Amino acid sequence: MNVILLGFPGAGKGTQAKVLEGKYGFVHISTGDLIRKEVASKSELGERLSEIIKNGSLVSDEIVTEILIKNLNGKTQNIVFDGFPRTLRQAESLDNYLREQGKKIDEVVLIELPEEEVLKRLTSRRVCKLCGAIYNIYSEDFKDFCVKCGGQLITRSDDTLQSAKRRLDVFREETKPLLSYYGSTIGVKKIDGGKTIEEVSSSIAEVLKL
Ligand code: AP5
Repeated sequence: MNVILLGFPGAGKGTQAKVLEGKYGFVHISTGDLIRKEVASKSELGERLSEIIKNGSLVSDEIVTEILIKNLNGKTQNIVFDGFPRTLRQAESLDNYLREQGKKIDEVVLIELPEEEVLKRLTSRRVCKLCGAIYNIYSEDFKDFCVKCGGQLITRSDDTLQSAKRRLDVFREETKPLLSYYGSTIGVKKIDGGKTIEEVSSSIAEVLKL
């Protein structure tokens, strides 16, 4: 089964995609992570992408689709897409790519969360520099190091209030139309992202019949 997780930046897509990967064996593909990897490599492309993500804009459809397909590495099944597609053109490219392989998107899950909560979560997020684990300074068991690998926790360059607000605007303009795109075909399953991480995971497992 191929699944797309949609939702505002900070709604919990990455957190839940990691649960689907760890508990149910999905392949987790996050275009945000792939782009940050390119930035960390200090390649010429990475330098250009760094500026784009820092101010909360979208990377071009051509570049991000190329990065995605390269990293899918021929995989076409049991994928959880986190942060892709983000525009109608990306959705069409993904449909075409999967169709050529005789596959499709089976489920689309929207994690809903009010804007104020989204902004709070983004500006309080920390991520492990080494393994990418996601944390939040407000969670009860927060430590100032990664409990999974001991790595240093950092704040993402786009987790400033200014960039977070811009990303919400970009979501409304570019990504929200995907709700009609998928809504009129395979349907969109809505989940309340305001509950605990475990409760959200259970709701997702339930709608995906896992
Ligand atoms: P990307 O990395 O995809 O960022 P995003 O979509 O903005 O999503 P986030 O990673 O910010 O949030 P999330 O929903 O994964 O939430 P998380 O689980 O971390 O993209 C970054 C940039 O790359 C984009 O802005 C763009 O420039 C570029 N890009 C990427 N893909 C692209 C594409 N397809 N096209 C063009 N450009 C692209 O959780 C957030 C926080 O909340 C954490 O602290 C977490 O611990 C906490 N949290 C999670 N769940 C809960 C819960 N239930 N209760 C309490 N806290 C929780």
